[in-house]
Amino acid sequence: MTTKRILSGIRTTGPLHLGHYFGALKNWIELQDKYECYFLLADVQALTTHFNHVQEIENSVKEVILDLLAVGLDPQKATFFIQSQVPELTELSMYFGMFTRLAELQQNPTIKDELKKQKDVYYGFIGYPISQAADILLFTTIPPKSGDELLVPVGEDQVPHLESTRRIAKRFNKIYGKTFIIPSTLISDFPRLPGLDMKKMGKSVGNAIFLKDSPEIVAEKIMMAFTDPQKIRINDPGHPIKCAIFQYYKALIPELADEIRINCQKGKIGCVNDKKRLIKIINDFLEPIKERRKSYEKQPDFLREIIEEGNKKARKIGRKTMRAVREAMHIDYKKLFLKK
Ligand code: TRP
Repeated sequence: MTTKRILSGIRTTGPLHLGHYFGALKNWIELQDKYECYFLLADVQALTTHFNHVQEIENSVKEVILDLLAVGLDPQKATFFIQSQVPELTELSMYFGMFTRLAELQQNPTIKDELKKQKDVYYGFIGYPISQAADILLFTTIPPKSGDELLVPVGEDQVPHLESTRRIAKRFNKIYGKTFIIPSTLISDFPRLPGLDMKKMGKSVGNAIFLKDSPEIVAEKIMMAFTDPQKIRINDPGHPIKCAIFQYYKALIPELADEIRINCQKGKIGCVNDKKRLIKIINDFLEPIKERRKSYEKQPDFLREIIEEGNKKARKIGRKTMRAVREAMHIDYKKLFLKK
């Protein structure tokens, strides 16, 4: 029998939004029926940018777990755990850092982009692809059997990190002997959902619709969303590619997208009506998610159980992997000192 594991993670820097849903969660929901799934709440990675906002991270851990359960991820099928609660991850990151070149991290395009925005460069931030490699590789099967798989579903922006992870796994295997499975990337086939201003959707830049937004907030946000600036009157021909509203239609009801595109291009529909229709569609979509969220909010003991169980399961796997890692790296001292 072969083992097929999925590992993915999400930073805990705020509640989740529609971009997370279409870029990741929708995919995870399908995967949980087919694979042994582990989903990590990346609170340590959140520290790389939010070390001064630890209260925010703490609150976000709760928001994110509620969001994950609310969208239909099922604790009976998948395992959820908190990164900081699995110290084996910290240990593995430390060892990986020893044979990863600084230049390689500095050349990582996602890191490079982020560095341009940052005034000071922190050691932890530069190193986060290493910590991400540990997140993933800790879930290798020990010993890896042929046919075993480790799959990582992520969005486009994470691809460079996955490349680093694969390189780290290969380098480790080459130096210390085959220990890790080389993980594969499952890239979400859904193009990134833009923010309401057509820029990159972000938790903190005010251009996102959160999964827990009320109908009134959704309406307010959509009415302010960016549409084609050249379409001023109803019968002006529109350019759906430039319009945030159209991207949301494509995500939420792809079967209607063609009709809307054609009518917009022909100047047969106006932006305001289009927005009003979308508000209803989004609110109908969010309603059952919020219902489920409410019911989980009322069961704090159950939430605690889910996380405790998850942390325990992740650590059990982690301990097994770390025994193999220490042995491969000759830092278990089995040969030097007799064990009982
Ligand atoms: N870096 C990912 C993000 O920003 C989160 C993450 C942390 C992750 N560890 C991971 C993703 C391991 C996949 C695998 O969204």
